Amino acid sequence: MVLVYPVDSCCYYNQILLFRFKTIVLVTGHSRQVSKTLALYNHLVNPQPQPSHRLHRPSMDVQAVKSNLVLILDYGSQYTHLITRRIRSLSIFSLCISGTSSLKSITDLNPSVIILSGGPHSVHTANAPCFPDGFVDYVQKNGIFVLGICYGLQLIVQKLGGEVAIGEKQEYGRMVIEVVKDCDGLFGGKKIGDKQVVWMSHGDEAVKLPVGFEVVARSEQGGIAAVENPGRRFYGLQYHPEVTHSPEGMDLLRHFLFNICGVTAGWKMEDVMDEEIKVIKSMVGPDDHVICALSGGVDSTVAATLVHKAIGDRLHCIFVDNGLLRYKEQERVMGTFERDLHLPVTCVDASVQFLSELKGVTDPEKKRKIIGKEFISVFDVFSHELEKKLGKKPTYLVQGTLYPDVIESCPPPGSGRTHSHTIKSHHNVGGLPKDMKLKLIEPLKLLFKDEVRELGKILDVPVAFLRRHPFPGPGLAVRIPGDVTQGNALDILRQVDEIFIQAIKDAGIYDEIWQAFAVFLPIKTTGVQGDQRTHSNAVALRAVTSQDGMTADWYYFEHKFLDDVSRKICNGVRGVNRVCLDITSKPPSTIEWE
Ligand code: XMP
Repeated sequence: MVLVYPVDSCCYYNQILLFRFKTIVLVTGHSRQVSKTLALYNHLVNPQPQPSHRLHRPSMDVQAVKSNLVLILDYGSQYTHLITRRIRSLSIFSLCISGTSSLKSITDLNPSVIILSGGPHSVHTANAPCFPDGFVDYVQKNGIFVLGICYGLQLIVQKLGGEVAIGEKQEYGRMVIEVVKDCDGLFGGKKIGDKQVVWMSHGDEAVKLPVGFEVVARSEQGGIAAVENPGRRFYGLQYHPEVTHSPEGMDLLRHFLFNICGVTAGWKMEDVMDEEIKVIKSMVGPDDHVICALSGGVDSTVAATLVHKAIGDRLHCIFVDNGLLRYKEQERVMGTFERDLHLPVTCVDASVQFLSELKGVTDPEKKRKIIGKEFISVFDVFSHELEKKLGKKPTYLVQGTLYPDVIESCPPPGSGRTHSHTIKSHHNVGGLPKDMKLKLIEPLKLLFKDEVRELGKILDVPVAFLRRHPFPGPGLAVRIPGDVTQGNALDILRQVDEIFIQAIKDAGIYDEIWQAFAVFLPIKTTGVQGDQRTHSNAVALRAVTSQDGMTADWYYFEHKFLDDVSRKICNGVRGVNRVCLDITSKPPSTIEWE
């Protein structure tokens, strides 16, 4: 397929989407460059491109035109994704790649600004991650602005001829810094002596700056807090401007990007939606059909709604009741799909099939494998029936893959790895049969969860649905250690979970919590209920706060809330006489119990 695409838009998301065409002919140098940028990025996050997506990039050389892209080189800081998100919140397009990416990967993306992230490494250790050879030359020759944050600042200082030493006084946490140089640089608008609170986290410190660099702010302890060399367009911060604990951090980032670097804002979710729809429309041929497995979660729902908007009822969704869903889940999500979103969804009740295969199985991995296999067999039947009905095989599959699933970042020191991937592969419970040979549509691949929610709002997905806590693919099977078919464990768990979640909603704290749920404990203990001794089940309640599910902390409920919930559960659910609260963070525990 050849697409001729006249571009004068400053919305770079337009360009990202073009990678999906087999061949792209772009009619301006500007668009060609940006498209090349994003196509290459797509290649980076998909090291083994699917044949259907492969982009034959134009071979002509292009002039270096500023792309307005802010590229983050990640050196492993826990805040790296946050920087990307913060910059996008300024309507500036930002991407994140590993800090050890090759020079070609960086130059092909043609950024206007490069941010070197923080990280847990010391520049003194062997194999400390670093930008590639030729990087400094490249940014100088192409007028690219560079901002180093923490480890990033130390890399700049060390690589440009300065000195970094193990700090005598390590600086962690809240710190006051003071502007020490009047200038219109990083702290433009501030005067000497102006103070602000920032969040620091570093052991090493810059002790001698490279020629041409000046200190513009110092910490209360006298350490270097910010440096700059405007002539060479290098800037550095020894603190994290992206975290809320640095209250003036966003002002600094805004000033740096707009006033110093001259970046133009152009990243808007409405444009993302319009462009994505355009691309899906042109990508999916008029007779092509697309399938999508809906989980009842936010990502697959938003992805399907978007694709439905683009191609209408040539989208065929399936929702599988595997017998492991929450209380009234099937009615609730089908109601949203049909009434609110008008999505064409086939609901398959496969609970008997799943539960009979799971009978007597206690090993968690085995349970996951069985569930994955059963999903595949249900999808297989669905696609064959669809083929019979349509007279042709569906061509595409929609997946709700998100940006954090595809970002490759710098692994932690001592891990022995050169690349790490945040994808939670052990969470994939199956997928579709390989011989279906479907081409992928992943319309959310460059978005963060909060951006997906924003997109969902624009697509009229009910807000209550968008705010739902995540629910794992294997469902309640990962909340019943042991055999899920034992007694009426599933039934008891559904009732307890419903009481707990309803109480959380009634208390107005649902949105403060990343995920809350009940767990069925496969043990019986004694109790006294109605003057009688009982020998009934115990249940556990789990509620955590988290950014991404990779780490989590347990949620602090008020005692009164816990007391009320515990009473409601023991009084309302036959077969439960004990309620426990899980007070472990992740690590050392996982969020689910399996
Ligand atoms: P763990 O239990 O590993 O879970 O701390 C982290 C997050 O991932 C969710 N989870 C899953 N999500 N398929 C999913 O889509 C799965 O198989 C799966 N297993 C766990 C879990 O609910 C939590 O949000």
